[in-house]
Amino acid sequence: MSMSSYFKGWATSTPVLRTAFSVLRNVAPVARFGKTIVVTRYNDVQDVLLREDAFTVHEIDGYKMEVMGNPFVLGMDASEEATRDRAMLQQVIKREDLVLIRNMIRSIAADLIQQAAPKKQIDTVDVYARLAAVRLVAQYFGVPADEKKMMEWQRAIFNEAFVNLNNDKTVHGRGMVAAKEVAVHIAGLITQRKQQQQPLEDNVLNRLIAKQADTAWLDDDAVRRNILCILGVVENTSKVVTHVIDQLLRRPEVLAQARQAAVNGDMDTVHDYAFEALRFNPHNPVILRFCKNGAVIGSGTPHEKKIPAGSTIYAATLSAMFDPSTVAAPNEFRPGRKVDCMHFGYGPHLCTGRYISEVTVPELVAGLLKLPNLRRAPGSAGRIVYEDLVFPKSLTLQFD
Ligand code: HEM
Repeated sequence: MSMSSYFKGWATSTPVLRTAFSVLRNVAPVARFGKTIVVTRYNDVQDVLLREDAFTVHEIDGYKMEVMGNPFVLGMDASEEATRDRAMLQQVIKREDLVLIRNMIRSIAADLIQQAAPKKQIDTVDVYARLAAVRLVAQYFGVPADEKKMMEWQRAIFNEAFVNLNNDKTVHGRGMVAAKEVAVHIAGLITQRKQQQQPLEDNVLNRLIAKQADTAWLDDDAVRRNILCILGVVENTSKVVTHVIDQLLRRPEVLAQARQAAVNGDMDTVHDYAFEALRFNPHNPVILRFCKNGAVIGSGTPHEKKIPAGSTIYAATLSAMFDPSTVAAPNEFRPGRKVDCMHFGYGPHLCTGRYISEVTVPELVAGLLKLPNLRRAPGSAGRIVYEDLVFPKSLTLQFD
């Protein structure tokens, strides 16, 4: 099995990966397997993610986004366009919105839970976290669509851009179709909004449209490209909430504490429990970069290594989260760690949605935690089932 197909199966093998990474951290912190370099120590992982001149993204996922007609910041290396787009996203996705986002997601979650209440059973993925994220895309980002369709689009594009390391033709084909449909849908929304007589509602898409008045480069195509940050919302939120709940359910004492915090409305504590739980099964165990011209990793340390031109770098964030040199007693569950666990990446591509997610994830998790006697459904339904190996498909929970 190739290195990339091994990692494609990461969803079900986090404990195995953790053990493998722990060995590598000790014996070969910058390990070479042909053209693949696996970097496992905390400092080196940060170093790789910081140095965007030496370690680039275009060859990893940027070219795929371009082929799909959707180039956006995550796939762009240092350039005027990347700086410009990133600054624009920061102007329209504002820290001041967090209160609004909290209220929005809380009410979305409450609706979904109310619907499930008579059945005393809820699926964490499709009828809860994934659907809640689709509603956030509609309400906060201003991109409403048929909910099922939006889920399919997000899945297909995410799968092609970030997961399809072996360039599977079916996955590629689905991604291309979805990208085209999304582009047409968003272009239609932009036209519609511009023709609207009444003042536009306040949402991210409409803010971008409003910015066109005094931003020469922001044509409709640039608006469409930037609103595609919505592709970071649905799969990520859904997976993170599912992994967090699953990890909490594995630790009854921790679950009881987190539940108490949720019941008390202590969202800071729920936040700390959620992101510590995520460390044990993070959203992604590695972040990939390409090294076009060769570079040195671990410079000045005993494990300093020259990386040949044309290598793919696996910056193992999962390993960094368990590196005892930086993360004290890494195998212990310690909510509220002060160390950056890099759940949202690091350096120039640090997640645009991190502040939003630090609100939405705890809210969605708390919505479930508050359910009386929350527990797994019996049998395999009560465990995470994955689709295409990395996307949670279901995790059924029961309550009284
Ligand atoms: C809990 C949910 C989320 C997780 C775990 C997550 C994770 C990440 C990670 C690890 C990266 C860096 C990837 C890399 O360096 O290659 C990233 C980048 C990004 N994320 Fe998120 N994300 C989440 C939610 C969101 C949301 C809600 C948005 C919506 C705005 C978003 C938009 C983006 C964008 C636009 C980038 C690229 C930033 C840049 O290149 O400047 N993400 N995310």
